[in-house]
Amino acid sequence: MSTAAILTEKLTKTYAVGFVKRRQVPALRGLDLRVEPGQIYGLLGPNGAGKSTTIKILLDLVTPSSGRAELFGRSPSLKEARREVGFLPENPAPYEYLTGREFVRLAGQLSGLEGSALDSRVSEVIAQVGMEYAANLGIRRYSKGMIQRISLAQALVTRPRLLVLDEPTSGLDVLGRQLVRDIVREEQKRGTTVLLCSHIIPDVESLCDRVAVLIGGKLVREGSVSALLADRQTMMEATVESVELPRLEALRPKMASMDEAGGRVVLRFEEQHAREVLQAVLAVDGRLTGLQRTRFSLEELFLGALKESGRSVGSDIS
Ligand SMILES: Nc1ncnc2c1ncn2[C@@H]1O[C@H](COP(=O)(O)OP(=O)(O)O)[C@@H](O)[C@H]1O
Ligand SMILES: [Mg+2]
Repeated sequence: MSTAAILTEKLTKTYAVGFVKRRQVPALRGLDLRVEPGQIYGLLGPNGAGKSTTIKILLDLVTPSSGRAELFGRSPSLKEARREVGFLPENPAPYEYLTGREFVRLAGQLSGLEGSALDSRVSEVIAQVGMEYAANLGIRRYSKGMIQRISLAQALVTRPRLLVLDEPTSGLDVLGRQLVRDIVREEQKRGTTVLLCSHIIPDVESLCDRVAVLIGGKLVREGSVSALLADRQTMMEATVESVELPRLEALRPKMASMDEAGGRVVLRFEEQHAREVLQAVLAVDGRLTGLQRTRFSLEELFLGALKESGRSVGSDIS
């Protein structure tokens, strides 16, 4: 087998919190990951799942409690291994007293670029993230979206072999999100491996070749996005009128979702339950006004995994 771009084996991390009474917070519980070179790999999970901790271990910012991690076959503790990584942190906090251009330039210099090669590369990545208009402005005057963009330029300036993005679309508007997607695709064409960590399902679904779903520090699903989705039962959606939701309550355990809006009840369920749904609707004199197959999305997979893991569906999933 070829060398993986990212490898983790039985990786665990427990944080000790508090000064007097040390409380142990388990963030990772035996994580095995393998990301092949050239892949766009999604790490998906609700807040607190352990995504950022995984990234921080890969960048040697956090020491694992046990297990090991490798970048292209080398320990993240080696500078040469880390030098191949471009990193966009979760809440980038670039030096506010620099201009955007100075900040990106500094990152380029630190990685060994100099002279005209440095100048042209800095201009190139600033253009790539659409920040030419504000490159000479102090970062303290940037909005959150602008900070996100200039930080992305900083991550790209070294032409990294591995690009690690922690919640890259947070704080961005629709255009900004599209830009991140375009850049990730461009980078893949250049042969860059991308690790994209996000709690935003559509971003992962539309971009990634493979995805790992992380919940409570554990891997609960892993595979190619298409295989994960193909594996699932076909979903159906029924729209019912002239009936109120409570009268269909008996169906709930078998439904993926049940919602009432605008005097209509919308039921989502796996195809195998279609007969029961129709019988229940007829039994309460409901009027079936729509019945269709729908595509199973990563969202349902994610929610299913969350349900199995026994965690409640929080508001931090979008
Ligand atoms: N520096 C830290 N000290 C203590 N606990 C932490 C620290 N960083 C993360 N945690 C805890 O570890 C768990 C995983 O966090 P994190 O890796 O940030 O998850 P995610 O990025 O998926 O939201 C959470 O319970 C979080 O509160
Ligand atoms: Mg995080």
